Amino acid sequence: MRYQAVIFDLDGVICQTDRYHYLAWKRIADEIGVYFDEVINNRLRGISRTESLEIILESYDGELSQAEKNYYTDKKNAIYLDLLKEMSPEDLGPEVRDTLDRIRAKGILEAIGSSSRNAKFILRQVGLENYFDAVSDGSNITNSKPDPEVFLKASEYLGIDPRGCLVVEDARSGLEAALVANMDCAAIGDGTKYNLANYNLKRFSDLLLIV
Ligand code: BG6
Ligand code: MG
Repeated sequence: MRYQAVIFDLDGVICQTDRYHYLAWKRIADEIGVYFDEVINNRLRGISRTESLEIILESYDGELSQAEKNYYTDKKNAIYLDLLKEMSPEDLGPEVRDTLDRIRAKGILEAIGSSSRNAKFILRQVGLENYFDAVSDGSNITNSKPDPEVFLKASEYLGIDPRGCLVVEDARSGLEAALVANMDCAAIGDGTKYNLANYNLKRFSDLLLIV
């Protein structure tokens, strides 16, 4: 067995919440009066909520107080949570569920490694609440990706050496985090553009060719 564990990013890998992040940030950018598009949104993948706001404010001509920044990140999250309420197990797609089950059947452990503080809520929405062997997310880390902390915590929770873990990521920041953590990584979606991963996946089930 090449890997003892697979650590999955959540947003953009297990489920497609990135559209909801985009819609919520777009409303905030419009309220502030700054330009925002999908290219900027891609830079927010894997990055924390507060760091995301700083990136959105790069084109803002002025200075926001900490209270104003808190207002905008709280409001973004409220809009985002409202959109997430619409999610159900149907948003998972049969391929993801089937692939997760097949990896598990090989005796490989599975964990989540996500910067999101909403990870457990999202997992509940898509019916994976108690599925993973470990969940490492925004609630147990100090530094978000590209810092390796979230993946190192996941491997620690699983009790598996980092070199035995494969990370699955859609974000540049996440691929960089995996490399620093000494973990192999498989890129999917947007992540395949960067030439940083050990493997590029055309589809989620391609993982079965690797593990
Ligand atoms: C990551 C997303 O999974 O979580 C980022 O890719 C997001 O775009 C980050 O900013 C933090 O998410 P949340 O849900 O805590 O605002
Ligand atoms: Mg992601």
